[in-house]
Amino acid sequence: MSQITNSFYELVQARKSIRQFTDQPVPKVLIQKMLEQAAFHAPSGKNLQNWKFFVVQGAKRDEYLKFSQKSWLGIKDILKAKLKPSLYDFTERFFFTLGGAPVVIFAYSENSPEERHYTSIGSVYMAVQNLNLACVAEGLGCCTMGAPLEIKQEVDQFLGVTELPEYKAGHLELLCAVVIGYPGHQPPKAVRKTENRIHWLD
Ligand SMILES: Cc1cc2nc3c(=O)[nH]c(=O)nc-3n(C[C@H](O)[C@H](O)[C@H](O)COP(=O)(O)O)c2cc1C
Repeated sequence: MSQITNSFYELVQARKSIRQFTDQPVPKVLIQKMLEQAAFHAPSGKNLQNWKFFVVQGAKRDEYLKFSQKSWLGIKDILKAKLKPSLYDFTERFFFTLGGAPVVIFAYSENSPEERHYTSIGSVYMAVQNLNLACVAEGLGCCTMGAPLEIKQEVDQFLGVTELPEYKAGHLELLCAVVIGYPGHQPPKAVRKTENRIHWLD
């Protein structure tokens, strides 16, 4: 195997969700690089490149914490039944503090009548995965979060997205947030399931 192939698999397998961060700031230029040089290189249906990213930092990020806390209310009961108490408490703290992550990037899909809805959504998640991998390559940690969808319209308003003409036309849709920062913990790698995931038809 070539060196690039080796390092590709290493990079992919090194990625794991990070939910605790140091207070080291992430330079704006690095965020720009990861978006332009990784996220934007994802494939997209009809090459529409229909992603839109809203980068929240500083006081605006602090303001977002109350929304994150509210999103917790929508999922806490499901997690209470699923997680052991220590992990439940850790997750609750994560939602209340975002683990101290200095950056939150909200990923939106600009949907188009030209393209199927699921194809548009999938294209944006591909860009989000590239962003996740760029974080690993840059020594950053991140966690993709679907939780903001619990309070979708409030997040749209908080970000000022509701003022955009494409939103008013009903085309902009929040898909997830990615919280980013320098890792403040090293959680174990989540076990990968392999059974019944691949079906060969030859
Ligand atoms: C679409 C999506 C939504 C997610 N939403 C959340 C979330 O709201 N909160 C959270 O703590 N983790 C969230 N995660 C992270 C998953 O919990 C995590 O990817 C999974 O447990 C596997 O762990 P790993 O990322 O370390 O491999 C989300 C991941 C994805 C892909």
